[in-house]
Amino acid sequence: MSGLREPIGVIGAGYVGLVTAAGFAELGSEVWCVDIDESRIELLLRGEVPIYEPGLAELIARNRERMHFTTALPDAVAAARLLFVCVGTPPTYAGDADLSAVLDVAAAMPASADHALVMKSTVPCGTGRSLMRMLAEDGKGELAYVSCPEFLKEGTAIEDFMHPDRVVVGDDRGGWAGDAVADLYAPLEAPLVRTDVASAEMIKLAANAFLATKISFINEIANVCEETGANVREVARGVGLDERIGPRFLSAGIGYGGSCFTKDVSALKLLAANSGYHFQLLGAVIEVNELQKRRVVAKLARHLDSLAGKRIGLLGLAFKPNTDDMRGASSLVLASRLAAEGALVRAYDPIAAEEARRIMPELDCAGSVEEAVDGADAVVLVTEWPQFLGMDWPSLASAMAGTVVIDGRNALDADAVRAAGLQYEGIGVG
Ligand code: UGA
Repeated sequence: MSGLREPIGVIGAGYVGLVTAAGFAELGSEVWCVDIDESRIELLLRGEVPIYEPGLAELIARNRERMHFTTALPDAVAAARLLFVCVGTPPTYAGDADLSAVLDVAAAMPASADHALVMKSTVPCGTGRSLMRMLAEDGKGELAYVSCPEFLKEGTAIEDFMHPDRVVVGDDRGGWAGDAVADLYAPLEAPLVRTDVASAEMIKLAANAFLATKISFINEIANVCEETGANVREVARGVGLDERIGPRFLSAGIGYGGSCFTKDVSALKLLAANSGYHFQLLGAVIEVNELQKRRVVAKLARHLDSLAGKRIGLLGLAFKPNTDDMRGASSLVLASRLAAEGALVRAYDPIAAEEARRIMPELDCAGSVEEAVDGADAVVLVTEWPQFLGMDWPSLASAMAGTVVIDGRNALDADAVRAAGLQYEGIGVG
């Protein structure tokens, strides 16, 4: 297959870039993966992978011969027509997306009709058109531009790459580049959405905003369930069987985290505001999520009276299982709110502890579940790592000083927890 497939360049060896590079290498392309971070490229050249993503190290190792890692963008430009832009677009202090890395890449592009910038980085709607204008002013108007937003989820990114729900290719000129990108994805046999650049950009933002809305919605239903005696898991099951709604992203809990939802929902709200439109719904989605992260503190306070001096064991820190990503993690808000109330927090996460300590150096991280719960007045499940789901509750109960277990993900076996003599409380489950 190799040799028949279009070679590609991938700029940015972060999470999206590495998964995209390894995925296309697996499909048979030669891939030039470029990053300005020399230590990152050195690591990759040594066969190490700088991020934790299940299956990624194996995929890179399997396709090592087709993957070229370099800090020199010209190497990729010389080898490939399609240059996938996978650089970060973190929020600015104003909450908009910081496009400086994207602009740096555009500035380094050649004035060539035989090359295309393929934008995978999440950018505000309108970015592609203003980039094309800027490139034209710079004498690079012939360079093709395609928007190809990314829908990978951390933790299942390889699976998502190989089996996408859809592939979106936005192209305003109808030239060779859109067809070439669509051809690259053709072996995956996913529904293809060929559209204009602005619509492609908006599809990405709208998809993340809708999923975040779904989560905030079910979290509010959970909160009402707590007042009325209904069980949100039963409600979500009954509601989700309606094909128009669907069962996924209806798990109530301690709020969504991660860099994408938090960043993209705000970015879309601000994009609307900058264009003169007040996106009311997203304001509520964000507020509900912020309050949801704090509800666990109120639950603990209800059980323990005062939180001052109480020992709280947190199980999980990552914003979701199977990742070491701590960006936007609900655990950070929870840990710092508890500390502010005078509680003594000790947390355990199988993968993300180091990253958590980097962000919050004062966090007391345990080396095991047992250490985290030892002497605890209460335990909170924050991230539903598989190893937390079948724990030996009788033995944990005997190590704890208190009896309170708050299940922030509605993922534990409530009967097993109660059978160990502990008090179980979930989110909206009665
Ligand atoms: C999200 C989107 O799902 C991807 O499609 C998108 O490509 C990605 O953002 C991105 O823009 O890069 P991700 O942030 O990796 O992916 O994680 P999700 O699986 O979507 O989970 C986000 C948060 O929502 C997590 O904290 C998770 O625990 C929470 N969540 C998810 C819930 O609280 N309830 C649910 O029912 C589902």
